[in-house]
Amino acid sequence: VKSPSTNTLFISLEAWAVIRDHVSYLRGIEVHDFPVMIGVEEVSEDDFPVEINFHRFLDRYWTVYVWDDVAGKISTERMMFEFIAKDYEFEIEMDRNVDCFQILLGLASVRPGNLILDFGCGPGLSYPQLDDIEVIGCDVSPSMVQLARSRGINAIDPIALSNLVEFFDAALASYVMHLSVPIEDIGCVVRSLRIGGRFAANFHKGWGLSEFEEGIQSFRAMSQRSELNLNHEVHGAIRVWERIY
Ligand SMILES: C[S@@+](CC[C@H](N)C(=O)[O-])C[C@H]1O[C@@H](n2cnc3c(N)ncnc32)[C@H](O)[C@@H]1O
Repeated sequence: VKSPSTNTLFISLEAWAVIRDHVSYLRGIEVHDFPVMIGVEEVSEDDFPVEINFHRFLDRYWTVYVWDDVAGKISTERMMFEFIAKDYEFEIEMDRNVDCFQILLGLASVRPGNLILDFGCGPGLSYPQLDDIEVIGCDVSPSMVQLARSRGINAIDPIALSNLVEFFDAALASYVMHLSVPIEDIGCVVRSLRIGGRFAANFHKGWGLSEFEEGIQSFRAMSQRSELNLNHEVHGAIRVWERIY
């Protein structure tokens, strides 16, 4: 359900079942299956203290999932990006994303002639002027990949990425790691890096950083370049790892 003037909910099926039963019980009304619009104002966390988690994106989208249901969280986020793909460039402050990409390029020590991976490329609009640097974008959202390709960007899906081994000089993730990115997907990024290649990422508002730092420890081939740690006022925590073998 989408309206430019109203808040929009992306609901995992499990979360929907819980909401439906709760609303039916609390309000004494029958709530039917989709399509039903529940005003966000009416749905407060107090109404659902434990079972449901709400996460607000881009000021007006909400993902709603059963608490602790990691798969539900991932699937609602994916639904959201798939859904907003066409409008994405109007939803974000493009200059901010371009600036972040530029910072990550510098920290990853990208040089002319390099081939880099833009992990979570979206529609591929956030590149600064790239002189003599080749970029391959990768995104889990088919619509984002399609849009990026329609703009002449070489974009692939995560399955194609898993076939590229020791391929890239560097990998960047700009405004991606605050989302729920499964550690297996990071494994594909790690394998796709050449030895000595860096992975630079920002963690918007610091979200996802501690989970990521814990997860990446399982990849012994990755060493953190902590002297490059940056806590950026706008882009959040910025971190860099290097593939050492
Ligand atoms: C906020 S957008 C950022 C897009 C782009 N990097 C930019 O700065 O404009 C996040 C993107 O990451 C993608 N994404 C999320 N999880 C992903 C994953 N596990 N693998 C690949 N892409 C992912 C989403 O589909 C979405 O297009």
